[in-house]
Amino acid sequence: MKHIFANWKMYLDFDETMILTNQLLQEDFNLEKINLAFFPNALSCSEVIKAVQDSPIEVGAQTVNWTPRGAYTGGTSAEFYKNVGCKYALVGHSERRYVFGESDEDTHKKLSACLDAGLTPVLCIGETKEDREEGKTEYRLKKQLMKAFENLELGGNELIIAYEPVWAIGTGDACLPDEVFKIAKFITNEVKQYFEAYAPVLYGGSVKAENVVSYLSQDIVAGVLVGGASTKLDTFLAVIKEIENL
Ligand code: PGA
Repeated sequence: MKHIFANWKMYLDFDETMILTNQLLQEDFNLEKINLAFFPNALSCSEVIKAVQDSPIEVGAQTVNWTPRGAYTGGTSAEFYKNVGCKYALVGHSERRYVFGESDEDTHKKLSACLDAGLTPVLCIGETKEDREEGKTEYRLKKQLMKAFENLELGGNELIIAYEPVWAIGTGDACLPDEVFKIAKFITNEVKQYFEAYAPVLYGGSVKAENVVSYLSQDIVAGVLVGGASTKLDTFLAVIKEIENL
């Protein structure tokens, strides 16, 4: 079973989100081998959940607020997402970290909030181009994991990690599969030091139909987080078809 998570970011408005969702629902996927989840914008989440309710497709939030409720103008909490039927939430996506300035500490609080609310967090970690050039990839990943997991109890919840090198996101410059395998092993071993439960590791960063199979050829990579290529029907279908044929 491989996870295919579609991060639609802020590419699609409500109408476009629903059009893509409904087009995808008309396809006859073999979802026995695939765990498919859509991550629409906050505004569209509940409507997408209603649309997919008779299918095995799951829905996730792109980010969450860490407090359950209160005077947090503009916020949408993990609990609110859970209450409308989301299963997952992305936490610490690099666009949240580097565009919105969220810190490792913020990521930790969001991770904790997801676990409290019963959402399965998809913790995104990844090194920047500078980290990589300075040979600090493992240092950065280790640090992001350490900060995220500080005093954290999984409490029987699932946890998923997405390895998303910042330099590979939206650039077309995808990380080479051998490097992804090596890093996925590193992450798996690191996570084992914190939790007994196995946390699947996904890869994200310029995934498309032409490269998706190369990442999924080894068990150490449990799936992919697809951004740009998941926002258009033809390119996303092409990705799914490649995985179906694995
Ligand atoms: P991309 O984005 O596939 O457009 O590189 C991946 C992500 O940000 O999750």
